[in-house]
Amino acid sequence: MWGQIAKLLLLNLRPNIKSISEAARSMAENHSKRGVLIVFEGCDRTGKTTQCKKLVTQLNDAGFAAQFMNFPDRNTQCGQLINRYLTRQDDFTDEGIHLMFTLNRWEKMKEMEKLLRTGVSLIVDRYSYSGVAFSAAKGLNMDWCKAPEAGLLKPDLVVLLTLSPQAIARRGGFGDERYEVTEFQNTVMDKYLLLNDEQYWKVLDADKKIDDLAADLYNITIDTIKKCETNPLAKLW
Ligand SMILES: Nc1ncnc2c1ncn2[C@@H]1O[C@H](COP(=O)(O)OP(=O)(O)OP(=O)(O)O)[C@@H](O)[C@H]1O
Ligand SMILES: [Mg+2]
Repeated sequence: MWGQIAKLLLLNLRPNIKSISEAARSMAENHSKRGVLIVFEGCDRTGKTTQCKKLVTQLNDAGFAAQFMNFPDRNTQCGQLINRYLTRQDDFTDEGIHLMFTLNRWEKMKEMEKLLRTGVSLIVDRYSYSGVAFSAAKGLNMDWCKAPEAGLLKPDLVVLLTLSPQAIARRGGFGDERYEVTEFQNTVMDKYLLLNDEQYWKVLDADKKIDDLAADLYNITIDTIKKCETNPLAKLW
């Protein structure tokens, strides 16, 4: 009799066991798919902010969790000091401001890692490569500039937007902030190209209609999600 009861119990439980294991499998699958980290770099006026925001909207509309972020993040404690420097209210040594830009990224690392691990892709407007390229363009040693960035999250894809000087001129004048000087921007581009790593960089000419470029970038992003969503998170450099 006890054997029969056990059999009945097992028969009744089987569908539940099956559904529990399916749920666990599906949770594990969802869990093993993380968000991707995509960084946009390039000189001023190349359209980084325009494209990052468009990309986040396109991804969200297609059902992907994605969020916009930008560096420097002027809202953090460090970001407020950076803002005072950029708007010429304060001055720092080149080394000092370099470390502050780096610290600004470290301030955001826990939040970024948590979002990526919960499946949210991050579309980031400037990152370590801007930090290193700008400071190296001022004359600091590139290896020295890279050192404090080591250990930050490594992007799955870096998109470097480029524009000819003629195309930049058509986009309207630079503002009053530091660094918005054409010659300096050219030196920054040379430094970016020294950092270019073909394994995870795409260098794109941004002299295209906004929507055409956005369509290209959306396709590249979907490829990156498919390729990287099950890879472990990596660290720079
Ligand atoms: N593909 C494009 N064609 C023409 N104009 C564009 C294009 N993309 C952006 N713009 C315009 O160029 C200007 C600069 O764009 P945006 O602010 O996105 O550049 P950015 O790279 O973020 O610049 P910054 O480094 O100064 O923040 C804006 O007025 C924007 O509307
Ligand atoms: Mg911008």
